[in-house]
Amino acid sequence: MSVSLQEEAAVDFVLTLRRRWADTVYPHLRAEFDAASMGEAERAELLADHVRRLPTYGWFAWLERGSQKMLWRAVGDHVAAQPPVEYDRPAQGALELNPDLVLPDWYTAWDIHLQPGGVWSSNPAAQVYELGAKLVMMGENDDYKFHRLFTETAIASRPYRRIVDLGCGFGKSTWPLKQAVPQAEVIGVDLAAPCLKRAAEHAMAKGLNIRFRQADAMATGLEAGSADLVVSTMLIHEIPLDHLPVLFEEAARLSAPGGALAFLDFQPTGDAFRDFAMMEHGARNNEPYMAPMMAADLVSMAQAAGFTNVRWTAFDERGGGDLGVSTWPTRREWHFPWAVLHAERAG
Ligand SMILES: C[S@@+](CC[C@H](N)C(=O)[O-])C[C@H]1O[C@@H](n2cnc3c(N)ncnc32)[C@H](O)[C@@H]1O
Repeated sequence: MSVSLQEEAAVDFVLTLRRRWADTVYPHLRAEFDAASMGEAERAELLADHVRRLPTYGWFAWLERGSQKMLWRAVGDHVAAQPPVEYDRPAQGALELNPDLVLPDWYTAWDIHLQPGGVWSSNPAAQVYELGAKLVMMGENDDYKFHRLFTETAIASRPYRRIVDLGCGFGKSTWPLKQAVPQAEVIGVDLAAPCLKRAAEHAMAKGLNIRFRQADAMATGLEAGSADLVVSTMLIHEIPLDHLPVLFEEAARLSAPGGALAFLDFQPTGDAFRDFAMMEHGARNNEPYMAPMMAADLVSMAQAAGFTNVRWTAFDERGGGDLGVSTWPTRREWHFPWAVLHAERAG
């Protein structure tokens, strides 16, 4: 892959800007918040107004959205300058595309993460997403360490026969599952054909025999009771709240008796400032379903679908992965409140 000096400079600039937003501007805003004392009773009600009046808030908010837009611009320019990737190789038996699938309006209505055209609109869009997703972790995710950590720490070691990864994107959540449980049939499901094509290409290159299936995670078309493990990473905050019960029902339908569920996403930490910043992050990053998901009682929702032993655990991607408790690590800099929803299907 050839990278011009100008493209490299653009990416360096935007990543440095994002780093300073996270490690300098966010702690500065936090310090202003902590210094401007509010009575505990007022806090919840007045928090938004209070934070928005702090001197650094304008910079913080603008940099959050502006640097994300700049990131897509830098990555988009780079991908546009590359020769187009061809996907018409015959050896793609593991790729199950559905040309008749109609993408839901709620899915296409928003450029999620502010990515122009979303991940589903074209093959280059999926390439842009893949490169952007790698860069946005700011060097913390070399060789997809994040997803390997999820597989290694959030999933019990068992002789699974079939594992389904809902909302698998370009496959970075799916490959480690197959690597960890080679004897299992592993199936990645996503709405976006361009992402699935990349997922299948990469799996082939890695020698991983994985099925990638274009379908709605809420109607996978896979056999009932066939999965010992159903997972998703960063999917549920992309689904409108009123559709989430259907997602849990589909996961329950797919699950074999005694099967496990692990959904990696975000949860409120109980730190009012941090949780407010996270809710605003969803809004500013064009992720409209994030705040309603974080405010909802997904434990009850999963129980209503037939799951038992439902619980959230904190996930520390820079430390031990799944922490097994619902206490989040605190850091000075901006930091996602990663969490795993675990559940089981009665045996
Ligand atoms: C943030 S990406 C996460 C991808 C991957 N799991 C990962 O961790 O990198 C969310 C993915 O969910 C997919 N998605 C969103 N809603 C979906 C649905 N209802 N059914 C299937 N896939 C969906 C999107 O197309 C996108 O690829």
